[in-house]
Amino acid sequence: MARTSTTPPATAAEPGTTPGLRLAGLTKVLGGRTIVDDLTLDIAPGEMVSLLGPSGCGKTTTLRLIAGFLHPDAGRVEVDGADITDLGPERRPSAMVFQNYALWPHMTISKNVAFPLKVAKVPRAEIARRVAEVLELVGLSHHAGSRPAHISGGEQQRAALARALVQRPKLLLLDEPLSNLDAKLRVRVREEIRDIQQRLGITTVLVTHDQEEALSVSDRVAVMNEGRIEQVSTPAELYRAPATSFVAGFIGSSNTLAALDLGEGEPGVTWVVRPEDVRIDPSGMPGVVRRVLPHGHYAEVSITVRDTDLRAFVTGAAPEPGEEVGVRIVRALRYRDGRLEDAHVEVPA
Ligand SMILES: Nc1ncnc2c1ncn2[C@@H]1O[C@H](COP(=O)(O)OP(=O)(O)OP(=O)(O)O)[C@@H](O)[C@H]1O
Ligand SMILES: [Mg+2]
Repeated sequence: MARTSTTPPATAAEPGTTPGLRLAGLTKVLGGRTIVDDLTLDIAPGEMVSLLGPSGCGKTTTLRLIAGFLHPDAGRVEVDGADITDLGPERRPSAMVFQNYALWPHMTISKNVAFPLKVAKVPRAEIARRVAEVLELVGLSHHAGSRPAHISGGEQQRAALARALVQRPKLLLLDEPLSNLDAKLRVRVREEIRDIQQRLGITTVLVTHDQEEALSVSDRVAVMNEGRIEQVSTPAELYRAPATSFVAGFIGSSNTLAALDLGEGEPGVTWVVRPEDVRIDPSGMPGVVRRVLPHGHYAEVSITVRDTDLRAFVTGAAPEPGEEVGVRIVRALRYRDGRLEDAHVEVPA
């Protein structure tokens, strides 16, 4: 496998260049419900994009449409400019890694990895060479002869990744690939996947409902809600300026306030305040501390201000429950009818 070192991909397909993956108006109805709803997304060659959203929002269905396990009712799937909508999964230039690894228990790791090449009738010497290469890439050469039951969960997940990569796909599809791993291993394996993805420069779609996972390894994140993409942005932009109040509530931690809380009774206006933008300040609005949750280097403090509970992240000395404190909001996001109007509202004390 060529270990090309690629320059970081553009954050979006430049106009006029061919995207690595294009989803154009994808729609899928299942059981009488529209599960994927006119979904459009361009991914640049070599880019890694996460589909992030609550359970049941259509992430896996979208991935299955891309992989060819499902056929859309409307819309197209294109890879490097070629329309693959009507190709079966085995004829698509994509490989998928599933949540449960799906390794054959009776086969060694190297036989498992070789399997797709055997099915494709690749000559035996080439299979041996490619399997050895890809096992080295994922750091499993020493386990070539082991059975899946005799290696760890993280190693099994890397074996599943190797079995996808050995096919040299143009498109790597990952459906919650880390959810069977414990928290620490999840962080390590996701960094390994990201490293390999960047080294190979392979266009990748990662499905996850774990926002930290999506934000930490992706070039861009597409937030899905009820079969639609609400916003697709870089992780930093998504956090700084969530385009809709759904995204604001879904990404990071936030306080959602009705307009009256900030003294402006405009209908249709809501405010979102990040807990790090809520400060304890004697000159601020009067409030009472309800709860303090220590998190090590900061504390999450719930404060009741004008009948509203506000969450604040406090570094340094935390107040006590029952204590009367002043509260100042230093920044708020303003939404009108659920859409972002202003991401940098300075709230007067
Ligand atoms: N074959 C099917 N027939 C009917 N409904 C289906 C079918 N497959 C999926 N659905 C429904 O489509 C919706 C989206 O399912 P999908 O598996 O895409 O969600 P998801 O975003 O991957 O969720 P999760 O995070 O829980 O994996 C769900 O309500 C599911 O019940
Ligand atoms: Mg799913």
